[in-house]
Amino acid sequence: MHDDNNKPVEFDRLIDKAISRRSLIKAGGAAGAATFLGGASQLAMAVSQATTLMGFENIPTSTADEVSLPAGYTYDILMSWGDPVLDGAPKFSRSNSAEDQAGQFGDNTDGMELYHVTRADGSIDPNHAVLAVNSEYYNDEFIFEHGEAAKTAEDVRKGIYAHGITVVEVERKRNGTWQIKKGAPMNRRLHGYAEFELTGPVAGSDYVKTNADATGRKVLGTFNNCGAGRTPWGTYLTCEENFNGYFGAPEGTALTEAHKRYGLSKNGFGYNWWPHEDRFNLAKEPNEPNRHGWIVEIDPMDPTSTPKKRTALGRFKHENAAMTINKDGRAVVYMGDDERGEFIYKFVSRDTYDADNRERNMRLLEQGTLYVAKFHDGGMGEWIELSYGRNGLTRENGFESEADVLVRARAAATFVGATTMDRPEWVACHPSSPMVFCTLTNNKNRGVKDNQPVGGPNPRAENHFGQIVRWMPENRDHSSDRFGWDLYAVAGNPETQTGLYAGSDNVTAENMFNSPDGLVFDQFGRLWIQTDGNYSNEGIFAGQGNNQMLCGDPVTGHIRRFMVGPQGCEITGITFSDDHRTAFVGIQHPGNAWPNTDKDGVPRSSIVAIRREDGGIIGA
Ligand code: FEO
Ligand code: CA
Ligand code: CA
Repeated sequence: MHDDNNKPVEFDRLIDKAISRRSLIKAGGAAGAATFLGGASQLAMAVSQATTLMGFENIPTSTADEVSLPAGYTYDILMSWGDPVLDGAPKFSRSNSAEDQAGQFGDNTDGMELYHVTRADGSIDPNHAVLAVNSEYYNDEFIFEHGEAAKTAEDVRKGIYAHGITVVEVERKRNGTWQIKKGAPMNRRLHGYAEFELTGPVAGSDYVKTNADATGRKVLGTFNNCGAGRTPWGTYLTCEENFNGYFGAPEGTALTEAHKRYGLSKNGFGYNWWPHEDRFNLAKEPNEPNRHGWIVEIDPMDPTSTPKKRTALGRFKHENAAMTINKDGRAVVYMGDDERGEFIYKFVSRDTYDADNRERNMRLLEQGTLYVAKFHDGGMGEWIELSYGRNGLTRENGFESEADVLVRARAAATFVGATTMDRPEWVACHPSSPMVFCTLTNNKNRGVKDNQPVGGPNPRAENHFGQIVRWMPENRDHSSDRFGWDLYAVAGNPETQTGLYAGSDNVTAENMFNSPDGLVFDQFGRLWIQTDGNYSNEGIFAGQGNNQMLCGDPVTGHIRRFMVGPQGCEITGITFSDDHRTAFVGIQHPGNAWPNTDKDGVPRSSIVAIRREDGGIIGA
């Protein structure tokens, strides 16, 4: 840890090194770069110069039960919850059985990535790809005909099958529309009954042994798969978020501090799985939750492969995983822990990436070093190593081993004094510069709870709007333990609020939003911002409408609204075809009639394929 991190001289040096002539930031203009790293103000970002990154006009907000897009754009529904994916699976019906759901697209679509298929001659097929997509959770009122929490073992099985990952082949037709290929060879469902393998320092340790698995290496699947990520070697990263909600225990069960820190409780989120499957009963299987809360690596092109839980990346409520390859070849993964007052983490692999050696790359996430972020006022920050024996993470202070530090990463991060954040959601790495952005969605506890004081990148008490923080590593080196930071956007309402609550200068009455969540850079450096916020359009949120997707220029600060979702939904998950002429976007938990595709009138989470009527590049 460094106590002298606020020295201005250090900061100047950082800026000088960070901004090279080749840098994209520089290409965008020195003013933008200076604003980014030089701003002593924590609300530095204002619109500077013109943007050439976005070729569409900002669209108005909406409260309609429909998808709104800029002029010249159109969309089709690619896939909705319950659509058949595996051979023999039936069409969606609310009366589908558990076995039916096991062959269908899961519920509540979230993070996703597209992987184009390589033809026999080695070329990439622009019109044939594999889509890997998360299903985060289900809604009792829609999945069960009785409309209440699971009542039987069959209900639990249906619920478990509605979670996880759907891998499905998709193809583009001559008219530019995409369709899923039911029953195609690479189609696959991964869920809480599929076998996964624990890897890394925690695998085989006592913390993850259960009655069903004395080896501590074989886990039945995954739940609450939220955001996603991808690796340069073509694998998919799925992120286990609110795993705690599925566990429960009988009255009188004593839960440990470690259980409580991850939100485990006797009732969980009320899913009522534990009376039907012992692994969810904390009284019988206190270690089962230690086998969840990880980043999971999946090879989407090999339907026989076993997904790998990567314990070296730490256990918390993982939102997404943003990977970049550092200039020294090591893989770096930035990650947020989405809970009020939790942290932002960074993993640096021990070994280096080799573009010609996929077998080696497939082990890169097994070993490395985990860090947690501490933000100092004045625009500097540091990464603090979370390794057993370092920074006081020793037996004298209650940490037993490397496995213990990783299983209780939250406790380790608190111990070393990391900065409690306003709910870190997605992290995004710029495609050609070392800039990294992270959404901090909102936090009603800021300035209310003692461990969450106002300041630094969390500048507002009872923060209902959220903000986007960004950082640049010292010397453009992601393995450096120092970084410079500022706030790219502070969401707010310039119509109803004043001061900090009106938002940063790049937030206006025309583009305002609340609760930024999904965050992805496209290959051209456009920053796509998705919201999961208050859609009442009333009170402090008046004029903000339904949840939406915006596009930001990371250099000039311009933000334009690109899409507004139907009523009640959250917009989450985005991936592009290689030619960037289709954007696949997730519409999670629509609340009313949209998309109105089933006879029961059940709203169904869906992926839409967005394209331009002129066949052009999305956003350009
Ligand atoms: Fe699953 Fe934090 O969103
Ligand atoms: Ca989210
Ligand atoms: Ca959210």
